[in-house]
Amino acid sequence: MTSAAPGITARTSDEGVLAVKGLECRFGATHALRGVDVTAHAGEVLALLGENGAGKSTLIKILAGVLKPSAGTIRLGDDVFPRGLTPEQARAHGLAFVHQDLALLESLSVAENIAHVAGFQRSHGLISWRRQLDAARELLVRWEIDIDPSTPVQHLEAAQRALVAVARGVATDARVMVFDEPTAALPRHDVDLLYGAVERLRAAGVAVVYVTHRLSEVARLADRAAVLRDGELVGTVAVAETSEGELVEMIVGAKLAGDVAAPAAGGDELLRLQDVAGAGVDGVTLTLRRGEILALVGLVGAGHRAVGRMVAGIEPTSAGEMELSGTRYRPRNPRDAHRAAVVYVPGDRLAEGAFPTLDTGMNFSLRDRRTAAFASLRRVHAGASAVFREWNVIPSVPDAPFAALSGGNQQKVVLAKWMTPRPDVLVAEEPTAGIDVGTKSAIYERLAEAARAGTAVLLLSSDADEVAVIADRVIVFGRGAPRVELTRDQLTAARIAQECYAA
Ligand SMILES: Nc1ncnc2c1ncn2[C@@H]1O[C@H](COP(=O)(O)OP(=O)(O)OP(=O)(O)O)[C@@H](O)[C@H]1O
Ligand SMILES: [Mg+2]
Repeated sequence: MTSAAPGITARTSDEGVLAVKGLECRFGATHALRGVDVTAHAGEVLALLGENGAGKSTLIKILAGVLKPSAGTIRLGDDVFPRGLTPEQARAHGLAFVHQDLALLESLSVAENIAHVAGFQRSHGLISWRRQLDAARELLVRWEIDIDPSTPVQHLEAAQRALVAVARGVATDARVMVFDEPTAALPRHDVDLLYGAVERLRAAGVAVVYVTHRLSEVARLADRAAVLRDGELVGTVAVAETSEGELVEMIVGAKLAGDVAAPAAGGDELLRLQDVAGAGVDGVTLTLRRGEILALVGLVGAGHRAVGRMVAGIEPTSAGEMELSGTRYRPRNPRDAHRAAVVYVPGDRLAEGAFPTLDTGMNFSLRDRRTAAFASLRRVHAGASAVFREWNVIPSVPDAPFAALSGGNQQKVVLAKWMTPRPDVLVAEEPTAGIDVGTKSAIYERLAEAARAGTAVLLLSSDADEVAVIADRVIVFGRGAPRVELTRDQLTAARIAQECYAA
């Protein structure tokens, strides 16, 4: 066996740079992968599709050497690995990853994150931070990524983080670059930055494997699509020859159910903001009625997210008044907001929404760490089981570690938690991030149901299609203030996107 040469080497043969054959993986009773065959070619983007829990991340973790398959082989170039890889072998053979959670080191700088994977620059045996910065800067410039390499990762916006994860991957001269839902929580504008990076990788002859639930991305980026269902490969198709409907059918195994029933908007006024300022926004005046789904949209930094965070007591207001049911509302923290039946579902579920090391039942029940010590495990589990079945969380038993759930199922647990009991005001940021096409409409139905029962929903979503389907009204933000309001009859995805750019 010869070892693969470093650097980007384009293989043109049909064998592909990466081929997995007969891959099997089990977690106890869960048969997560059942004899999966997938091949990725140099200079192409292969979309890896499938419902929540279909086995996509498991396949990727096996490629990364994080998990061992119980059977099957992985071939990289001319090297065959019959029992899986180690992370070192994966890296040495040119595999690089942008994982679902990005796996960046938050407190370290961009340059340090890159060096952590690519190797540290040394001078006389010592790590040279100046050379480190220079090398990172050179790499970022070469890939047209506009970020200062000395910035700590925790100060970056979501899209910039994803780009750092890309830079870290290409720093090792990747031949195969694997993305696990890189745009799940990215605003639309930022998505374009990432698409640019993917297209550059393809042009450079890298084989790209790209996991997504957004079918518009498949059409835009991918050459072929491989679809998994319940751990089995349904098939691999050429994207240009396959309609979106056909892809959906392959993913869910049947045609999708019909449209979501429109919520009955127009109850009493519940929440009012008058000239509110703070956290980069100013002059925000708006009302939210019971039973209404009001979407706040805008590009990154437009200010709409800050409004959601002020309503939820996460960011302070510096001026103006908020009223809830006609009385003054000024939450000092999220606990104050909960007491007023105002809840917030964060977009970043792992950082803000969950306790990955605890079981799903605890994750369902806990509002914060302080209540953890007093919780009765039995009561917690009994409450969670029923709701998990209703929300179709898999597995529905509440004793699995949260971290062992697939990304979409984690999202269901977090949403179910904040919607049980039903709040008066629900601030939902990217509620369907990571949710598969089949389950999305079930989540929309739950939001509409909550609205019909009297909840006022403040939706913060970067998915214009989603907003067009479920919102009653949209306020478009730009440069820290509301700019335009769109009513139900004006809501199309194209109009929403257009107003965001114009605002
Ligand atoms: N560490 C683990 N322990 C037990 N079960 C696991 C573990 N990791 C994954 N699973 C199970 O394996 C199955 C496949 O999960 P996987 O994360 O690969 O799904 P996915 O296709 O990435 O889904 P999603 O789109 O929701 O991210 C699921 O049933 C999941 O619960
Ligand atoms: Mg996943």
